Amino acid sequence: MDKKRKVILDVDTGSDDALAIMATILSPEFDIVGICTVNGNLPVPNTTENTLRVVELMGRPDIPVVRGCATPLVATLDPLRKMRQRSNDGVTESGEEVTYHSDYLPLPPATLKPVEGTNAVSWYIDTLMHAKEKITLIMVGPLTNFACAYRAEPEIINHVEEIVIMSGGHDQRNSTAASEYNVFIDPEATAIVLNCGAKITMMPLDATHKANMRPCHVELFRSWGNAVGNFVADEIEARLKAYNTMQPLHEPDIAPIHDALCVLYLLDPSVITKIKHMRCDVVCGGIADGQTLFDTRHFNDAPKNVYVCLDTDEEKFAKMLIDILSRAK
Ligand code: BDR
Ligand code: CA
Repeated sequence: MDKKRKVILDVDTGSDDALAIMATILSPEFDIVGICTVNGNLPVPNTTENTLRVVELMGRPDIPVVRGCATPLVATLDPLRKMRQRSNDGVTESGEEVTYHSDYLPLPPATLKPVEGTNAVSWYIDTLMHAKEKITLIMVGPLTNFACAYRAEPEIINHVEEIVIMSGGHDQRNSTAASEYNVFIDPEATAIVLNCGAKITMMPLDATHKANMRPCHVELFRSWGNAVGNFVADEIEARLKAYNTMQPLHEPDIAPIHDALCVLYLLDPSVITKIKHMRCDVVCGGIADGQTLFDTRHFNDAPKNVYVCLDTDEEKFAKMLIDILSRAK
């Protein structure tokens, strides 16, 4: 095998984050330097505990988990921009409670602990500044941690191989009419990262709404009869119910596993069928707060700053994810 790719994950675990972490751990192509947690789908104590639970489930106590930022950079300072935490929960017509992200993942409480005496911002700076080879960042939550670290020590960018983010929407949104969730939570952090100068690949909703699991996959994972299979089946099942109830997509009974697409893209870029080098800025404040604004003019002269993934080979995504997770059968 070629040399392993050194990666840092940045997560707000989170059901789809959990599957992204598992896919990374189960891929020998990656050498995981650490996992940073952040406020997003849930408050940071929950995203940290959930991340530790997943790492423990996968039998990898050697992977450092580093607790990250508890709030967005500035968004919550402005009362007009409202609370930056959405409800994950809803109720079906028949009265069943559903959720995208339960407060705690249905796994045993972690016995592992986050790295002591540091936080994700300092850890990014220490780790990157001392790195002997460049590191790829896979960031699938709000971008608060890395934005803070980059503001404090811009030199870290010289130690970054590339950045892959689950962020934004070109033609699709999920939090407001303008914004995708990870950008909605911390638009300013997204703006900082998009302008940091690294090679950035963005996985917006246009691509991730085709990164789906379906009811047949719940049965498949359940049939393994082990802890990993049951956990994956539980999470897909919960997401199917949540999407059908609160966020019906272009067809029923699909559950996007947004964050895993970033991992699979690094393993095999052909899972993405349309990618464009573009200029993207972030709207911060106002009616389009959190919008990723793509310059689609043919004559634009602003420097392009991001490779935007616009379509996914849905069958390939499902097959890859199943094949990778099956290593834990
Ligand atoms: C993104 O928001 C979160 O809910 C998911 O984990 C994913 O990272 C999708 O908009
Ligand atoms: Ca996420």
